[in-house]
Amino acid sequence: MATNDLAGRTFLVTGATSGIGLAAVHGLTARGAEVIGASRSGAKGDATSGLALDLSDPASIRRAVTDFAASHARLDGLINAAGAVYWKPATTAFGVDRTWAVNYLGHVLLTRELWPLLEAAPRARVATVAGNPRFLRSLTCDPAALTTTPRDGLRASGEAMAARVIWTHTLARKKRDSRVTVLAFHPGLVRSNLVSSEAPLFWRLLGGAMNSWASSTCEIATTAAVDPALDDESGRLIDPALKVHHFAQLEDAALGERLWTETERLLARG
Ligand SMILES: NC(=O)c1ccc[n+]([C@@H]2O[C@H](COP(=O)([O-])OP(=O)(O)OC[C@H]3O[C@@H](n4cnc5c(N)ncnc54)[C@H](OP(=O)(O)O)[C@@H]3O)[C@@H](O)[C@H]2O)c1
Repeated sequence: MATNDLAGRTFLVTGATSGIGLAAVHGLTARGAEVIGASRSGAKGDATSGLALDLSDPASIRRAVTDFAASHARLDGLINAAGAVYWKPATTAFGVDRTWAVNYLGHVLLTRELWPLLEAAPRARVATVAGNPRFLRSLTCDPAALTTTPRDGLRASGEAMAARVIWTHTLARKKRDSRVTVLAFHPGLVRSNLVSSEAPLFWRLLGGAMNSWASSTCEIATTAAVDPALDDESGRLIDPALKVHHFAQLEDAALGERLWTETERLLARG
């Protein structure tokens, strides 16, 4: 239902042209928020305005943050919803595999560069898309995978999903005195363009079938970005039923530190 309770608040959504990002744009604008939709083309689409951002390229990310800050003094929430599965591996300007770059490293750099603006807001959020808790429970991620190329796209996508959950938990731990709440969310099954035309036939058929069952909305993306009931759940994964999940293997502090150190080392290069 459309309301105006987010009027005066500003959100940046990555992946705003499709899937979860597009659903988040719809959810936030329906409640009166100003929403800046980021995508490679920078098209405004259904958002209030558009921002050109290529998450595989650190220079593009820094440029996007400069452009954003030039026109916005306020940021109440960052929704990291973009994602890609590249079936043909390639190395990016980050020096890592491109599925890893778009799904993990690019979002980490974007969040880091926007952090001062988020800190300045009264009570900001970082909400990052993850995946189904049943799947995540069996996943882990060796930080060495970040620099092991070439990488199979599907495998890298699962690794990067686990990395987003580990990073969310570690960021919350490191910033525990901050007013910014950082959450990961399971989006449910949302209509998607993730299975591109370069995917093998089996995956294209499966993707088409899943899209016929999937929803075009993703209420949890908006809830994770704004619901005050989640203020004290920083570092956790929230599912569409608002259940908060814990993953012992992904919340291991030593693993979090190793991923953090490797991430910082890679970001320092570019
Ligand atoms: N859909 C689901 O049900 C579901 C479930 C669980 C997890 N997920 C995860 O959610 C993430 C997004 O999935 P989705 O279904 O929303 O995919 P999607 O429909 O393919 O949308 C992907 C979005 O990411 C953007 N994007 C792709 N490459 C980019 C890049 N290099 N730089 C900046 N933006 C880029 C695309 O924008 P442009 O192409 O316009 O740049 C597009 O808006 C993935 O990591 C996926 O694993 C999805």
